[in-house]
Amino acid sequence: MSVIAFAPDAGVWLLSTPRTSYALRIDATGAPCHLAWGPLLTLDEAQEVATAPAPPVSSFEGRPVGDELPVDGGTMYGPPSLQVRFADGTRAFEWQPTGHRVLEPAPGSAELVLEFRDRVHLLRVALHYRVHGDSDVIERWTVLRNDGDAPVTLQRADSAAWTLPFRDGYRLSHVTGQWSSETQLRRETLPFGETVLTSRRGITSHHANPWVMLDAGDATESHGQVWSAALAWSGSWRITVQRTPDGRAGFTGGAGHEGPSLPLGPGEEYTTPVHAGLYCEGGFGAASREWHAYTLAQVLPHPREIRPVLYNSWEATGFDVDEAGQKALAARAAALGAELYVMDDGWFGARRSAEAGLGDWTPDPDRFPGGLSPLVEEVHRLGMRFGLWVEPEMVNPDSDLYREHPDWVLHFPDRTRTELRSQLVLNFARRDVAEWAYGWLTRLVGDHGIDFLKWDMNRAFSEAGWPDRADRADEVWTTYVHHVYDVIDRLRVDHPRLRIEACSGGGGRVDLGMMSRTDQAWPSDNTDAADRLAIQHGYGQLYPARTMAAWVTDVPNQFTGRSVPLRFRFHVATAGVLGIGGDLSRWSDAELAEGAGLVAEYKRVRHLVQHGELHRLRAPGEHGPAATQYVAADGSETLLLVWQRTPRHGSPSPALRLAGLDPAARYRDARTGTVHSATVLREYGIRPELPPGDWASAAVHLIRVVPPIEGGGAAGG
Ligand code: DGJ
Repeated sequence: MSVIAFAPDAGVWLLSTPRTSYALRIDATGAPCHLAWGPLLTLDEAQEVATAPAPPVSSFEGRPVGDELPVDGGTMYGPPSLQVRFADGTRAFEWQPTGHRVLEPAPGSAELVLEFRDRVHLLRVALHYRVHGDSDVIERWTVLRNDGDAPVTLQRADSAAWTLPFRDGYRLSHVTGQWSSETQLRRETLPFGETVLTSRRGITSHHANPWVMLDAGDATESHGQVWSAALAWSGSWRITVQRTPDGRAGFTGGAGHEGPSLPLGPGEEYTTPVHAGLYCEGGFGAASREWHAYTLAQVLPHPREIRPVLYNSWEATGFDVDEAGQKALAARAAALGAELYVMDDGWFGARRSAEAGLGDWTPDPDRFPGGLSPLVEEVHRLGMRFGLWVEPEMVNPDSDLYREHPDWVLHFPDRTRTELRSQLVLNFARRDVAEWAYGWLTRLVGDHGIDFLKWDMNRAFSEAGWPDRADRADEVWTTYVHHVYDVIDRLRVDHPRLRIEACSGGGGRVDLGMMSRTDQAWPSDNTDAADRLAIQHGYGQLYPARTMAAWVTDVPNQFTGRSVPLRFRFHVATAGVLGIGGDLSRWSDAELAEGAGLVAEYKRVRHLVQHGELHRLRAPGEHGPAATQYVAADGSETLLLVWQRTPRHGSPSPALRLAGLDPAARYRDARTGTVHSATVLREYGIRPELPPGDWASAAVHLIRVVPPIEGGGAAGG
């Protein structure tokens, strides 16, 4: 049950989700102020918070942290969420409430809209709050509308600001990285001052990801209060976390980085992306499970689907693709148990390397003399779906498209057009460019019966100019992203069976905005199993395994030179949506047989990985085993994955205490038949059998024995 309640005399609003409450009020100046974000409160209790006396402040302090959308103006000295410049040069915004609405956008969901305008100018600001009956996540966004007759400049327009209750200390969790080492989890004391997490690259980025988790420094994987939030946005973004000397903490976040500003002409409206927030008890593990459940329930377009095992040709062939080679790989992939065959880069135009051909999206007649249809038909005949790599937002200067439309790329007239990976970025903010992309994509998918697209994007923006719109060139940063979304949305409408993987040179575009219109994401180009454990650990802090594509590739690994046994590689990829990316023409019969067995094993447990609840039992580290566990929602089954990198003699070999099991039940090991008491598994743990030596791994599938034992716990059997 989620509810929105109002105490008109106190001006207090209370939003309640199944386990949490969020309260705010309009203060005497008309500004929306934060009151509470934490465990469930009654409306009376929320009013009690509102009447608590504020500490005295000196004439140097200004307004404390705690506005719902801090503005640039008055005595606000923190990072503004809303920073506007009116045509007369005024920069401050002053709140004047104009009304509110409570909506029911869908059964089980409720939305509060608080409406304001500037006290003098007709700039309207609507704060939106949406809650769902099946989640503690609160979605917030802001709509700005210029009803005046002069233009307004939005220098900053965040989606929302979030305030934490007072605590003695704060800690910040987030991820950083770079290409091929994305989503490295960082957990550090929140410094005093402002901590900026951002992407200035036009994409979500490999370097940071738009979510934060804060705790009081005392949360663990399984205990403690955690406040977190994630932006649903796939372009540049900025989240500023603030810790003030008076001991408060909060953060504001939204699209865009410093520098570009958005013009808002008379009659124009700007809607920010959603900034979703979650308060959770039960530590970081519970917070992750809540985010996973929310993504499945409210974000993904086809959450109930089981994602197929895919094969992808990239690491096997690079750009060297042709019909015969692809058919041969497809036959081997099908024999291995793959259900979706994806031909990666190199199938079109003059694309023999990264140097040429991007933009010319017709199959290369030398390599595909009959077009793509013979390959697609063969893949379908083999019983697999057919997927294709595309990179619609890019062009190589050495392409027919660029020779015809040199003005279609992001550029400034008198500036270098910096190439990265020999490519330039097409200006998707231009309607004609987006229409061109939509046109060839929908024809390609429709004409060939393509089931899956891997939508790639392999470089960051540079010289992000739009000469035709010199007066409003900064719009490119947001309109570009909206048009990418629009093209994907229209493709999905045209081809309801089409499924899409979001990729940007690996994990450059992993975010809730992209996830709301795609089916899975490619977290990293780094497929080294050991490195991948850390990447997957960071990815899964917020995003569910159901979206996390994971390939088994060849050794020595192309990036690290490391050789890891096939079984270990499979068990690492089993923690997500399993794929195979090795050169199957070089796999021995023994490897193919072992691989087929491990694919079959994955298919027996993937419903648990993709739809169960994740418990991180031990984080990846140098020596001791890392382990994750997946539990069916009804507790009927569980899967334990264990990865032991390099054991050190004499270091403890810990028993893994399982989580989420029905304590009264017993569970049978599907492989060995051994029956375990859930109480023993929970309290005393299990030590899965691992072969001696480096790179040992295990997958233990436990199924509840029916009927459960009456009257509580039981001894192991
Ligand atoms: C980057 C992707 O992340 C890779 O998987 C592959 O598709 C290449 N691009 C192809 O150019």
